[in-house]
Amino acid sequence: MIERASLSDLDEILYVINTSNFLAFSRAIPPGFLKYPFRTRDELAREIRDMIFFVYRLGGRIVGVAALYVTSPTEAWLCHLYVLPQFQRRGIGSALLKRVEQEALLLGVRVIRLMTPERAHWAIRFYRKHGYMIVARVRREAWFDVIMEKRIC
Ligand SMILES: CC(C)(COP(=O)(O)OP(=O)(O)OC[C@H]1O[C@@H](n2cnc3c(N)ncnc32)[C@H](O)[C@@H]1OP(=O)(O)O)[C@@H](O)C(=O)NCCC(=O)NCCS
Repeated sequence: MIERASLSDLDEILYVINTSNFLAFSRAIPPGFLKYPFRTRDELAREIRDMIFFVYRLGGRIVGVAALYVTSPTEAWLCHLYVLPQFQRRGIGSALLKRVEQEALLLGVRVIRLMTPERAHWAIRFYRKHGYMIVARVRREAWFDVIMEKRIC
């Protein structure tokens, strides 16, 4: 069900990211500051080339995505972990996260980091359950993000 994504998945991935981001983060980012669409087609096309994207398919349809962005031989960022709202809380996000961590381990990555709004309590709870800890707080235009990290080996 989880596969490496390719450029031909671009439009479906774009839909998952922009739909899920808007619905989730309009609760965590002050009105007027939420970027919509969160990613344009061109931005995402670049990211699909630069990052390792995974997709979760259900009945042939992409319902969840996650990406690993390797920034040094031992460090990487988890990016774009999104599950379509109607498919959340069924273990899909956890499965994608495990697949990303498995890939990172194979590549020799030791530390995975991610950034999320401080007010995204559901995401922070999800990542804490998976062993991530808050290591920094970052001031943005009108809110705070947190950086979370996990040592995977
Ligand atoms: C965060 C997210 C990726 C988790 O994926 P998921 O498939 O829903 O998660 P799983 O089913 O594997 O795990 C569920 C756990 O995540 C947490 N969680 C997920 N959604 C939640 C919500 N709406 N409220 C509270 N906790 C939530 C809970 O700890 C939950 O465990 P529980 O059901 O036993 O309480 C998904 O909910 C999502 O896409 N949310 C919107 C976008 C987002 O926040 N992405 C993270 C960007 S940094």
